[in-house]
Amino acid sequence: MLELSVCIGSSCHLKGSYNIIQLFQQMIEENALHDKIDFKASFCMRKCQSSGVAVSINGMVHHLQPETAREFFKNTIMPIVK
Ligand code: FES
Repeated sequence: MLELSVCIGSSCHLKGSYNIIQLFQQMIEENALHDKIDFKASFCMRKCQSSGVAVSINGMVHHLQPETAREFFKNTIMPIVK
């Protein structure tokens, strides 16, 4: 089970974490990945200074822009769970 979490701390919220959460939920739905991805929102990951929203995959933090989140899901998350 892949552990995926998106930061909803105030800094990431301002950078668009809500949009990323919506998009990831939609992608999980479309690809029927509920039993493969444990998706959560998380409090501040202490990476606020980085540009982009903090997204953790199995404990490893990446920084995403809402505009590139769909591509990131396809190119980085899908290959791990498929
Ligand atoms: S608010 Fe997201 S890392 Fe701090």
